[in-house]
Amino acid sequence: MTDLHSEYLGLRLRSPLVASAGPYTGDLDKLAELQDAGAAAVVLPSLFEEQIEHETSEIDRLFSAHADSFGEASSFFPDIDDYNTGPDTYLALVEAAKDRVDIPVIASLNGTNIGGWIRYARLLEDAGADAIELNLYTVAADPARTGVDVEADQLELVALLTGEVKIPVAVKISPYYSSLASFLVGLQDAGASGVVMFNRFYSPDLDMETLDVKPKIGLSTQAELRLPLRWIAISRDFLHISIAGSTGVHAGRDAAKLLLAGADVTMMTSALLFHGASYLSNIEHELTEWMRDHGYRSVSEMRGAMRRDAVADPTAYERAAYIGNITSYTSRFLHAQPIHLHKR
Ligand SMILES: Cc1cc2nc3c(=O)[nH]c(=O)nc-3n(C[C@H](O)[C@H](O)[C@H](O)COP(=O)(O)O)c2cc1C
Repeated sequence: MTDLHSEYLGLRLRSPLVASAGPYTGDLDKLAELQDAGAAAVVLPSLFEEQIEHETSEIDRLFSAHADSFGEASSFFPDIDDYNTGPDTYLALVEAAKDRVDIPVIASLNGTNIGGWIRYARLLEDAGADAIELNLYTVAADPARTGVDVEADQLELVALLTGEVKIPVAVKISPYYSSLASFLVGLQDAGASGVVMFNRFYSPDLDMETLDVKPKIGLSTQAELRLPLRWIAISRDFLHISIAGSTGVHAGRDAAKLLLAGADVTMMTSALLFHGASYLSNIEHELTEWMRDHGYRSVSEMRGAMRRDAVADPTAYERAAYIGNITSYTSRFLHAQPIHLHKR
């Protein structure tokens, strides 16, 4: 019997397969489907800082408090209303999700500025969330602010948020930090119980007819798995908090790779949107088969078995691998027969 039990943020899970924040996890029927398909936990779609700050008076009413001041309500994006209908409704979603499924429900907040919205985390805890995921999605576009400034603010935010609640807080990050390893240690020191590597950043496109800047969301591909794979393998050595591997998990083998690198759980959105919620059971089946075929009896046995310090050549995850890769690629092309695209 293969033992899939996993631990994430101090929560004991039936497997390492978690549904990440996305359209499915905001729908109660889909949450039930995900649970039936074997999801070990679910992360609800994010509630955005802007939404909370926009309704500061509402939050004040909810707290019936007055002392802490909220920051200036920043620009509010009406589009968000189509995704989440606001702080009140979000609390209702957490409660309803807890009623509907037995697996852990992780609430998600998306914000980067220090402000009164942080207090909202306590309401999520009271509503029954098992943990909070803080999604640090930001585009550092201000030339006057250095990487050190941006990171210091984010770490302070994490410390404030973790101080606000008793439930564990995971931080979902992008790979775009100048020294990711050091930032990860900073998150650990700031009190995060886990990190989610990585969020996907969506880059806008231009509509060449209307000359508008168009938002563009595409789903991930399996090839994107290699970025979290590298960073999880590197950081498993110095992080003692939980690691969730996210982006590019489309098959059981992908999940196995991230676990071998050192992830405690793997998360999925795109694969489920492509194939439906029930696809999660295929991923579990493939993962179990792979483990059985390769002699792993439990997830805890395989976790980190291929982290940087455990492999024969630890530099394979670093710069040396780049040099090796480009030399072997170049020599393969120099000695290969040219491909003739057109018949003579
Ligand atoms: C339509 C859509 C909506 C998403 N909404 C959220 C969200 O609200 N909060 C969040 O942290 N991530 C959100 N994500 C990102 C996913 O949770 C996930 O991190 C990302 O898609 C990479 O994982 P994947 O390769 O399994 O898709 C969203 C992704 C998609 C495609």
